[in-house]
Amino acid sequence: MPKNETRFGASQTRRSFLRSSMLATGAALFTPIAAQQSKAKGGNGGGGGKGGKDPVARNPLRIPPIVTPTGMALNCAPTTFDLGGGNISSGLGYNGHIPGPTLQVRTGDQVTVDLYNGLTQPTITHWHGMIVDTANDGGPELAFEPGHGPYSYDFPVVQRATMNWYHPHPHMLTGEQVNLGLAGAFIIRDDHEDSLGLPGGNYEVPLVIRDANFDKQGNLRYNPRSSGFFGKSALINGTLNPKLDVDSGWYRFRVLCGANARVWDLTMSDGRPFVLIGNDGGLLASPIDVYEITMSPGERVDILVDFSDLAAEDSVMLQDERSGWDLLEFVGTGDAGYAFSVPSTLSAITPLSGPNTPTREFSFDGMNRINGLEYDIDRIDFSVPVETTERWRFTTNGNAPHPVHVHGAYFQVVSRTRGRRRLYPWEGGWKDTVLLADKESVAVLVRFSMRSHYVMHCHKLEHE
Ligand code: C2O
Ligand code: CU
Repeated sequence: MPKNETRFGASQTRRSFLRSSMLATGAALFTPIAAQQSKAKGGNGGGGGKGGKDPVARNPLRIPPIVTPTGMALNCAPTTFDLGGGNISSGLGYNGHIPGPTLQVRTGDQVTVDLYNGLTQPTITHWHGMIVDTANDGGPELAFEPGHGPYSYDFPVVQRATMNWYHPHPHMLTGEQVNLGLAGAFIIRDDHEDSLGLPGGNYEVPLVIRDANFDKQGNLRYNPRSSGFFGKSALINGTLNPKLDVDSGWYRFRVLCGANARVWDLTMSDGRPFVLIGNDGGLLASPIDVYEITMSPGERVDILVDFSDLAAEDSVMLQDERSGWDLLEFVGTGDAGYAFSVPSTLSAITPLSGPNTPTREFSFDGMNRINGLEYDIDRIDFSVPVETTERWRFTTNGNAPHPVHVHGAYFQVVSRTRGRRRLYPWEGGWKDTVLLADKESVAVLVRFSMRSHYVMHCHKLEHE
């Protein structure tokens, strides 16, 4: 390919109803738990609220171990995990963890990972949001069979601080493998972010939010429909009905929508704000209080919450307005926490300037086509000049929502016409995934710097 181009395969697969044969070794140790999710939303605030007591027994939130991905072996294989309270479930884990370990690097670090396939299917791992070349991007063309590999990644971290994530990306199998547990957070830090003194240590908590179904033995079960996978329960960091004890002070939550298809409207039961400070591509220019955040598969938000008024034993619930589910209960310890005042400026976001009319248009047709075409691993659909800002327009042509994800570059969202007809605070700054809800058309400005080839696709994984 010419050296000045970034090339694209537009990736959407036929939906896959493949049944998993990968869980044959699963543990089967408890009675079905799938229906435990509290439907506590009633009037205002449901099961949470100051002094309110949630009726569901709640489990301490799992915090995945933090690992530096340098000289790291990463193994995808069946594993068991504790949903909370000793309810052992099975699924697919990275190095035995569901979700996988939180990878943590600094800008300028070199990432070296050997990926081992301990599954019964091909796999490959994509670093969602990392700006890397094709050989390190982990797209479908790099999938390898069990018994082969390892696949070795070796890339520099060339971007600023943010929270990305990692998950499998084999053609037709991504939805199943992610749903059965293969996903983890990938945090990048840098000096500028450090200088802001944001809450850290125990006061910085990753939240990988997804839904799940279980079989009769309580093991993760992937049973998608044509409309996508919709689970009956939420799992936060792999924990069912989780709670987190919080000190009186500020917390930073790094939130990932790791669901296959579900879109969430996050709120706090007592109406306290989320102070939104960042999203897919790192910090926003300035913080903004929001009371509800919509997240679709693949999107991240970085939020601060002030619990300094939360007395011992008082509780507040993180909820999803769409499903009415209680997601995570925060319970006050009464101990002094992290005192902090939110800086009024967070980072410099230089607006891209580019053409006023679309350079390219992409229509997301049905479940598995872009501009009428299904993914073909051997076809290059278009080439983009590097270091050139283009204006792309994404439009739905049925079967929305479609969270549109572009590999290899971040974009700035410029407008949304039809449908919701507006942009939201969490769509500012730099994005790699943007939600197209029913009838919507979204314009973005995008600029590539890496000479490589990539896929773009719908991140509803049953559309992938
Ligand atoms: Cu999160 Cu192409 O993927
Ligand atoms: Cu879609």
